[in-house]
Amino acid sequence: MRKIAPPRTYRVKNFGCQMNVYDGERMAELLGEQDITAAPDGEEADLVVLNTCHIREKAAEKVYSDIGRLKRKDGTAPIIAVAGCVAQAEGEEIMARAPSVGLVVGPQAYHRLPEMLSDVVEGKRVTDTDMPAETKFDALPPRRRAGPTAFLTVQEGCDKFCTYCVVPYTRGAEVSRPFADLLDEAHRIVDAGAREITLLGQNVNAWTGEDGKGRAIGLEGLIRELAKLPDLARLRYTTSHPNDMTEGLIEAHAQIEKLMPYLHLPVQSGNDRVLKAMNRSHTVESYLRILERVRAVRPDIALSGDFIVGFPGESDAEFEDTLKLVSQVRYSQAYSFKYSPRPGTPAADMDAQVPPHVMDERLQRLQAALSHGQLAFNRSSIGKRCTVLVDRKGKHPGQWLGKSPWLQSIHFTGEAAIGNIVEVELIEARPSSIGAELLQPAHA
Ligand code: SAH
Ligand code: SF4
Ligand code: F3S
Repeated sequence: MRKIAPPRTYRVKNFGCQMNVYDGERMAELLGEQDITAAPDGEEADLVVLNTCHIREKAAEKVYSDIGRLKRKDGTAPIIAVAGCVAQAEGEEIMARAPSVGLVVGPQAYHRLPEMLSDVVEGKRVTDTDMPAETKFDALPPRRRAGPTAFLTVQEGCDKFCTYCVVPYTRGAEVSRPFADLLDEAHRIVDAGAREITLLGQNVNAWTGEDGKGRAIGLEGLIRELAKLPDLARLRYTTSHPNDMTEGLIEAHAQIEKLMPYLHLPVQSGNDRVLKAMNRSHTVESYLRILERVRAVRPDIALSGDFIVGFPGESDAEFEDTLKLVSQVRYSQAYSFKYSPRPGTPAADMDAQVPPHVMDERLQRLQAALSHGQLAFNRSSIGKRCTVLVDRKGKHPGQWLGKSPWLQSIHFTGEAAIGNIVEVELIEARPSSIGAELLQPAHA
């Protein structure tokens, strides 16, 4: 087999959820340890890692078109590594369909990238989609870098088995990372400059562990401990499942000042028959009761959710129930998707698959209702004073972008820097952003 020159530069392309963003960052750090550096913008990399998502068909197919596009003008190609959930679900198929792929590595095995790369350099093609008992987290180098907003994966996997979803198969069973490891990683990313940490998990609120004194704690206990880090200003968590939304976690929203007033709680449908067929194990009423309790302790909380339209058998009237729920809840923003049949999931074999034109129409109506709600929420914020964590420069001179406590995108002009937390007044609402006026310059 033909040997290849060892790669000197890499590029990681992330698709899918924030957990992939986190994994992508960890892979980048791991490659950095091997003296492989990030390819400068606009330059071709020797190694391209496609960190893929399998959640919907379109996302999964994208990987093959991306692989095709990586060929260079002179006919050569970089070393292509396929990571993420498509790698886990379709490892062998990728190897068969795409001969230019050098390695396939699953989301629980990427700590083995360096060894796999040595094999690729020797001319081999390698696949590793193991879910080893010894976790990748123990094998990865410690975190050294972080922007003002950082992700921290605290929990992985899912035991819920919603009938449409691939995640329990691609990410495995629910596992919580140990408290001490998380505290250590949080310290490191705060030392590296993070002002806000978003705790991540496919079911983040299923996290459980033991605190420093050996007492059993849930996610709210973890949040309470992390909130003690003096240089950390803000905490968030995502994504939660309604069934793991404990009273303790709800109360944390009233008690922990650093915990931001935002909750992403997917519901998927506003109809109980559909929820049952989805195996969601909550009802519309039990979902609404949770939101009521959260609003009771934290009246200004911004609520977000996920929706699927066109689940097999969903009737017009059942879809209307989803619209009803949306107008009842008044989401600050939300994500909505057309149902996509996924191989190996029970829903893919269900009768009465909804025709594409019906799904299109439902999605359009739902998205119109959600955008309308988002604008209404943004309008209701006008006149409020709040903090903004600056995370980017804007397009215009002197303009800065950042997030409000309610996760709205804020832009303002004035003296600031990335990583600053500034006081602003919200003055102009747009559908997906808010213009603000700087009141008090940075306390960095
Ligand atoms: N664990 C999280 C979300 C995981 S996937 C949760 O349960 O909330 C993110 C979102 O993708 C889901 O909430 C769902 O709305 C959507 N999704 C998952 N599988 C899908 C499918 N087969 N077709 C369309 N959307 C899907
Ligand atoms: Fe998928 Fe359901 Fe698990 Fe969320 S809870 S990851 S939608 S199976
Ligand atoms: Fe996609 Fe895997 Fe995340 S399927 S949504 S990248 S867990």
